[in-house]
Amino acid sequence: MTAAVHLERDGDVAVLIIDNPPVNAGSQAIRAALLARIAEAGAMEGIRAGVLIGAGKTFIAGSDLREFDLPLVAPQLPAVIAALEGAAMPWVAALHGAALGGGYELALGCDARIAAPGTVVGLPECGLGIIPGAGGTQKLPRLVGRARAVPLICGGERVAASEALRLGMIDAIAAADLRSEAVALARSVTGKRHVIALTPPEEPEGAFEAAAHKAAARGRQRPHILAAIARIGTVGRIPPAEGLAAERAAFEALRITPEARALRHVFFAERAAARPVLAEKVRPLPVARLGVVGAGTMGAGIALAALRKGLAVVLVDSDAAALERGRARIDADLERLGPEGAAAARARLSVSDDLAALAPCDVIIEAVIEDPGVKAQVFAAIDAVARPDAVLASNTSYLDIDAIAAATARPGSVLGLHFFSPAHVMRLLEVVPGAATSARTLATGFAVAAALGKQPVQAGNAFGFIGNRIYAAYRAACEFMLEDGALPQEVDAALEAFGFAMGPFAVADLSGLDIAWRMRRQRAAGRDPRARYVEIPDRLCELGRFGRKTGAGYYRHVNGKAIPDFEVEALVIAASEAKRIARRALSQAEIQRRALAAIVNEAGLVLEEGVAARPGDVDVVLVNGYGFPRWTGGPLHWAGTRDPDQLTDDCAEAARAAGPQQKRADLHALGIWER
Ligand code: NAI
Repeated sequence: MTAAVHLERDGDVAVLIIDNPPVNAGSQAIRAALLARIAEAGAMEGIRAGVLIGAGKTFIAGSDLREFDLPLVAPQLPAVIAALEGAAMPWVAALHGAALGGGYELALGCDARIAAPGTVVGLPECGLGIIPGAGGTQKLPRLVGRARAVPLICGGERVAASEALRLGMIDAIAAADLRSEAVALARSVTGKRHVIALTPPEEPEGAFEAAAHKAAARGRQRPHILAAIARIGTVGRIPPAEGLAAERAAFEALRITPEARALRHVFFAERAAARPVLAEKVRPLPVARLGVVGAGTMGAGIALAALRKGLAVVLVDSDAAALERGRARIDADLERLGPEGAAAARARLSVSDDLAALAPCDVIIEAVIEDPGVKAQVFAAIDAVARPDAVLASNTSYLDIDAIAAATARPGSVLGLHFFSPAHVMRLLEVVPGAATSARTLATGFAVAAALGKQPVQAGNAFGFIGNRIYAAYRAACEFMLEDGALPQEVDAALEAFGFAMGPFAVADLSGLDIAWRMRRQRAAGRDPRARYVEIPDRLCELGRFGRKTGAGYYRHVNGKAIPDFEVEALVIAASEAKRIARRALSQAEIQRRALAAIVNEAGLVLEEGVAARPGDVDVVLVNGYGFPRWTGGPLHWAGTRDPDQLTDDCAEAARAAGPQQKRADLHALGIWER
């Protein structure tokens, strides 16, 4: 499998075929071959135009990211594009599959672009902490306008062919045969048509500024987002050559920043996490028809996620009213698919109050209340009606998968599939094999994730799996800080300043304090008496302050706004007094240090115990499920960028703060600094 570019000819048109399986990633070898073949084609007798096309299933789907950690090597992409633009004859890009990043920039260096239906084009570089570096920020605005280019580039939008045609990102969609139609298009192009020479389309006054403002806020003011906006902003205002040079300089500076490295780490960690940890590759069972038991918050969300992805769903709930509520919620959301899409999705949904309706399902996901007795009963009943080859999954947050599997006669076909709320929005899915789970069942769990467009991460069958276990340690550390002197809004502000989407107390108010309260009461007897226990959340719940849904929790909620509450302040101060803790001011730095150390320590334990297989798996869970800032690379990548002695001390302090029962991770042994 060597990377190559083949030169063929169709009469008077040269055809360059880019061949670098599996996705024709743009690499040094491909760039060098392109440069050589472009020159060869230009020197051939009787050739009037050229076509660039990809071999296999795609055009260039992106650049070879493995090159990004290394020094840049010639020839670089701008040189290849300069060769296309400097050629005497016109070049046409023939796109299929994906033409993304450098692939689409190469197409922008051609004189026309034609795509097969189903192609996606775009500039996703900003998702990796960089900006397009081979003309993307300078050329796309000349086709679509500066204001429209801002979200396309800053949001890394992947644009379908029909929309790309409407926007002007491509010139034509092939009706039948891409190659022959591209050749015909190449013959019809007379003279060169450099995108960089175009004047950007007129836009309403202030349109660019408005788009820029929105994108900067969405992009959390990260440096690469601001750089992309700045580069787009100069289009049409400065000479093209200056614009291209400034873009390249920004690209080169950004690609070696810690932030870009961290985002590349998450990219690779997500890819690694998407495959089951298995000794050998096992073929999954089909996942076309999904059963969902429980039509509540999670069950309805899971059903919706599956319907949106074209699966058939059987939704069962023992409570007719709950079933109807779930169906109505699904129905309302499906409206977004438009009249035809919604009708098709509704036709794939059947609802029932009888578990027997699950008989035809490939995979059945249970999402009834979090009660071991109820789960066991439900699994025994599902086992009795499900096909012998059906896989049975539980969405339990905390219960033992082995105990659930033991309620069936097929423990090998049972696993945990832990979704996050709202299940049709959140991408994360923890896939939890039990002791008896077969390789094929596990592979099928990953196939469910793929079918639903979720990011799977394999987790061990231990309390709280990966995410809730670490989050519990984090939340506890934040509660200690309330007793030590901070107020909820101070803790939240410090962690939001670190980059969390929301602080822990704002999150608690959003998801509801009552669920955790119920669990604390259930588990009260098993609590280690040495553990530091903060009673503040219990006091709030006793006052009926369950969070947003009751209008009050850690905050008062007025018209969707969370307002710090003096009643909570009084309650927090009283809690400190009751334990004779002298309150003192906690700086943002201290709050961040203590909260992050608690996360890192628990993440280390999760790894030591084998609940997570790799440090990257922890990072993927925290980034995708818990609002940990992606640009830090997740907690363990972040830890790897810190001073080892300082972080080890901080983790020891965090463990001490939680009580003598709290274990300490040996971070050095985990190798997080060996990258
Ligand atoms: P919910 O209370 O909203 O829904 C549970 C549904 O199950 C109700 O509609 C109820 O009528 C139905 N049900 C109860 N017993 C049944 C039975 N014997 N047969 C059929 N249906 C029955 O609960 P929620 O929040 O959706 O949680 C469901 C599961 O998902 C729990 O195990 C929970 O721990 C887990 N989970 C919840 C998350 C959340 O944020 N709410 C997140 C991740 C997992």
